Amino acid sequence: MSELRYDNQVVVVTGGGAGLGRAYALFFASRGAKVVVNDLGGSGKGEGNDTKPADTVVSEICAAGGVAVADHHSVTSGDLIIETAIKEFGRVDVLINNAGILRDVSFRNMTQRDWDLIMDVHVRGAYKCTRAAWPYFRKQKYGRVVNTSSASGLFGNFGQTNYAAAKFALIGFTKTLALEGKKYNIFANVLAPGAGSRLTATVMTPEVLSAMSPAYVVPLVAVLVHSSNTETGSIFEAAAGHFSKIRWERSKGALFRPDDSFTAGAVVKRWRDVGDFERGRPEHASGSADMITKLEEAKKAPRGDGGEKVDFGGKVV
Ligand code: NAI
Repeated sequence: MSELRYDNQVVVVTGGGAGLGRAYALFFASRGAKVVVNDLGGSGKGEGNDTKPADTVVSEICAAGGVAVADHHSVTSGDLIIETAIKEFGRVDVLINNAGILRDVSFRNMTQRDWDLIMDVHVRGAYKCTRAAWPYFRKQKYGRVVNTSSASGLFGNFGQTNYAAAKFALIGFTKTLALEGKKYNIFANVLAPGAGSRLTATVMTPEVLSAMSPAYVVPLVAVLVHSSNTETGSIFEAAAGHFSKIRWERSKGALFRPDDSFTAGAVVKRWRDVGDFERGRPEHASGSADMITKLEEAKKAPRGDGGEKVDFGGKVV
């Protein structure tokens, strides 16, 4: 099979000055794309700024015969980053929202700044960049977006309520972009990566760090943003050469007749059914449950038989 190419395309990589972003930028430039290497160049906690990370990656690309331009804005000024792409290259085809910071702290000790900075960089940043690129994508009926989530967002992680909330927000953001973008050939997917970088340097051993090269995440992103890709609205994990997809699962659940036997006690009695993924027919949900059908089915359900009763004004009696 011939290699995937991105000739004549403009790829914007936020946080492209280090770690995963750097790996993406080098790859796309090596496959014919013109790359905007955005990076604010601050600390891993989001303090300060420095032009060097983005400039260094651009120099590497140019030295290898590629085409790239540096952009030093924060992703919170995403409109200026997209403006760089338009001014320098006249278009934007691919947006990889990758820039990220950490401000890990237990929820009890979290400051307002810890919360706000994480939300700003990850959620507002992805929003601002995507918002600015969207009219170009729609007009040219082509766009590819990858938003970077995390296992923290998917599963939670001690000391990361801010980061986990931001990373999960990107899932709802992406799934809705996918719905709204589909008819314009704009596809958006979520990546939950794992790689050795300065963000993971404190939690991984040197051995694991060196084995988990950012380069091992690149092939998945390469496929997701390629013009031949038809996948959209999906969530992928990529780390250490292992790629997988995550999807929701809804239990069959319990159905209650909507009369005075539908009580909290009746729910307690059927609690196992509510969360049972083994028996019955769990489904891989891609939308909310069909409430109208459920209401019809509920009318035929057996009466509940649990303890206290509730009237439908909400009062437990
Ligand atoms: P990294 O720290 O090596 O690279 C992130 C880059 O983003 C840095 O160069 C930084 O200067 C830049 N950046 C930070 N704030 C910015 C802002 N406001 N505007 C523009 N650039 C900014 O980190 P790494 O590991 O490469 O992370 C990339 C993305 O992947 C992040 O979104 C991170 O949360 C996510 N991620 C990484 C994991 C890993 O195992 N490395 C695991 C899960 C998620």
